[in-house]
Amino acid sequence: MYQLGLIGYPIQHSLSPWIHGQLLERAGIKGSYGLFEISPDDDFAERIKKLKEEVQGFNVTVPYKQKIIPYLDELNDAANVMQAVNTVVQRDGKWIGYNTDGIGYVRSLEQAYPHIISGQHHKALIIGAGGAARAIYHGLLERGITRVDIANRTIEKAKNFAQAEKTAVYRLDEIGELLENYDLIIQTTSVGMKAIEDQPIAPVSNLKAGTVVSDIVYQPIETAFLREAKREGAHLLFGHTMLLYQAQYAFEIWTGKRIDVTDMEQELRAILEGR
Ligand code: ATR
Repeated sequence: MYQLGLIGYPIQHSLSPWIHGQLLERAGIKGSYGLFEISPDDDFAERIKKLKEEVQGFNVTVPYKQKIIPYLDELNDAANVMQAVNTVVQRDGKWIGYNTDGIGYVRSLEQAYPHIISGQHHKALIIGAGGAARAIYHGLLERGITRVDIANRTIEKAKNFAQAEKTAVYRLDEIGELLENYDLIIQTTSVGMKAIEDQPIAPVSNLKAGTVVSDIVYQPIETAFLREAKREGAHLLFGHTMLLYQAQYAFEIWTGKRIDVTDMEQELRAILEGR
């Protein structure tokens, strides 16, 4: 019997209860996944103490991915590098923090376009330099992509984590001419989210044949960035798949079971499109 859940604020519209409900069912495991919303006025330490008595593991979302760290006994490598935790598990009496963003992204990519990871000398470009960008950057390098460049509005922010020998850093307005060099282009900023704006963060043109273009925004599913990329003949990777594979990895951390989620993609897409 697994008791799992999510902390964050606000979280009422989270898709995690649906996803983990499906995973529990598919795994044939009895359990539940609850929402433990912690408001900024709550006593955080007290809420975490109570939570630890109720659950064996939990997810962490905004704004507590850093704040949770002093309440944990250990961090895995990714969480340590990122100094951000989104999944916590109790193991042998210790509370361990993970960051599943990078591996979640890489798994979604591998599922849809395995040749990008397995192929030789593929080049990737990450647009953005926030938390998600950092996680994906490390995830791709760890899986053997040899060249991962970064473009960001604020160039210094990208330089803070870029490894000089594997990465060139560009300003957003420099990338127009360069896109034809990449086999994989990933948009990781919030630009393109519903209610923000319907403009791509940068024009998408000059792509090489067969390029995969990916956006981690999943509301809307087809962002303006992906729409332009499709028009240019790119292969697309949608943001909701990262969400699914991150959850798959979190569930594996909690239960030891890796559940096939490929047939959940369409259903999740339908839920998101119905919102
Ligand atoms: P997260 O941790 O969720 O990835 P974040 O740390 O706030 O979010 O990072 C947001 C990213 O989106 C950054 O790369 C940011 O660019 P800056 O580093 O220049 O701030 C980028 N971003 C957000 N709004 C943007 C906009 N309107 N135009 C261009 N980039 C934007």
